[in-house]
Amino acid sequence: MENEVLRSKLDQLETKTAESLEAGGEERIKKHEAGGRLSARKRLDVLLDPGSFVELDRFKIHKCKNFGMDQKYILGDGVITGYGRINGKLVYVYSQDFTVFGGSLSNTQAQKICKVLDLAVQNGAPIIGLNDSGGARIQEGVEALAGYADIFYRNTRASGVVPQISAIMGPCAGGAVYSPSLTDFVFMVKDTSYMFVTGPDVIKTVTHEDVTKEELGGASTHAQKSGVCHFTADNDKHCLLLIRELLNFLPSNNMDDSAVLKTTDPIERNNEKIYEILPDSPKKPYDIKDIITEVVDEGYFLEVHQHYANNIVVGFARLNGRTVGVIANQPQVLAGCLNIDASKKGARFVRYCDAFNIPILSLVDVPGFLPGTDQEWNGVITHGAKLLYAYSEATVPLVTLITRKAYGGAYDVMASKHIGADINLAYPTAEIAVMGAEGAVNIIFRNEIKNATDKEGERKKLVESYEERFNNPYRAAELGYIDEVIDPAYTRKRLIESFEMLKNKRHNNPPKKHGNIPL
Ligand code: HXC
Repeated sequence: MENEVLRSKLDQLETKTAESLEAGGEERIKKHEAGGRLSARKRLDVLLDPGSFVELDRFKIHKCKNFGMDQKYILGDGVITGYGRINGKLVYVYSQDFTVFGGSLSNTQAQKICKVLDLAVQNGAPIIGLNDSGGARIQEGVEALAGYADIFYRNTRASGVVPQISAIMGPCAGGAVYSPSLTDFVFMVKDTSYMFVTGPDVIKTVTHEDVTKEELGGASTHAQKSGVCHFTADNDKHCLLLIRELLNFLPSNNMDDSAVLKTTDPIERNNEKIYEILPDSPKKPYDIKDIITEVVDEGYFLEVHQHYANNIVVGFARLNGRTVGVIANQPQVLAGCLNIDASKKGARFVRYCDAFNIPILSLVDVPGFLPGTDQEWNGVITHGAKLLYAYSEATVPLVTLITRKAYGGAYDVMASKHIGADINLAYPTAEIAVMGAEGAVNIIFRNEIKNATDKEGERKKLVESYEERFNNPYRAAELGYIDEVIDPAYTRKRLIESFEMLKNKRHNNPPKKHGNIPL
């Protein structure tokens, strides 16, 4: 090169870039990777389409002068930020680097994260955070806390505007847990990631409880017990590939129409297999996921919250190429009853779909709300109302299919016509009633049974008569609450036709600042 000045400037750029790639040094990187984890940069390589990553703020450094920090500067300050593509779709990303000050959040690190969050909102693209951090940068004090709050504020304002996804790929303590929990989907890696507000040592001091990090806030704990985690992965690579899979179902922002994927699965594919899935007795359980995978494109269903509140199933699938959110009672678990956790899980999913214009398919087989003091004292009234509220305020196309039971309040809650569903279908096996026949007869015919000479015979007769009257979909169909009773063999065709017909649905809630969902 002739231009010597430019040559030396380019050399300087190269040297500084190489320095930024050193991160916390070879030894720390080795230690980090020995735990089976990928480095912050390698994670981005797996997450994004090859060669698509563009880094921002590579040379940014912290401003802290306390505790000798003015002698310790590492370019990038422990987080890699920028943008790239997932299957061609633009996404913004940040990836915390545990080898740099334990990935701890300095004010500088927060500024870098806020920059990509702002860009994501401005340009209508998802933001994905790969979290691996010891929490607030202790040496910075309140400046680090301010940095966290700056992120929380942006997460909240971005909610419902662009999809926000958090992966927990290492420790996540203190303030580090709140940004993920404000986002839409939390992924955790088994055995190497954990989340808690206060760790085992503090717990031991305050409550004298002995608990390990894994028990307190590992992936299984948050996937099964708390519901904080939506997806668990076996390792870093699996986690990043799962995020790519989820992204495929999501629109880029709240104004974007979900991408339609070409499918070779015929619209009219016959679903006679459902004849075998539905049991011959209403008392027998079956796996609702068998019906979901039978009807959706290529049988492909991405379940969300797979290990939490298994009496309800939620997730994404496609019908004739278009993304739909599926919510289904699961007769295999607690007979498909709604309870506190199922209501919370369902409500959050309905609100996600509605915020991002994803049509909702509800499959109903629900004998009611789970009875018990535990449920009542822990607020099943408030939590159950969440699901009712979420469906009632949803303005996306809502298609409901009753496969079997739809009893009592749960009939109303599970996307009934009365709370805004557009198309309500039922199989001939549907039973739509205030309650099951046995319970109903014991209440309304108490005296007749008491006074009968053959009490059991009388009860049986009354149960049969109740079943004949109510254990079918026809009374609801007579009233127009059910639009059509369908042969299960034509489920796929009918669902696709319904969603196609509703494609241009326009429905607005009354103008208001915001509603008051029973939190
Ligand atoms: C500054 C930190 C740090 C932090 C870790 N490091 N956490 N530096 N601030 N918060 C540094 C360590 O000094 C060490 O530096 C390097 O990162 C690696 O840490 P190790 O402890 O060696 O790693 P490991 O044994 O794997 O333990 C990881 C850990 C532990 C469990 C996360 O580091 C830890 O307990 N950190 C503190 C967690 C915490 O209490 N954070 C504050 C939360 S309060 P060297 O130079 O030795 O490599 C909070 C309030 C915000 O976040 C509230 C907002 C709402």
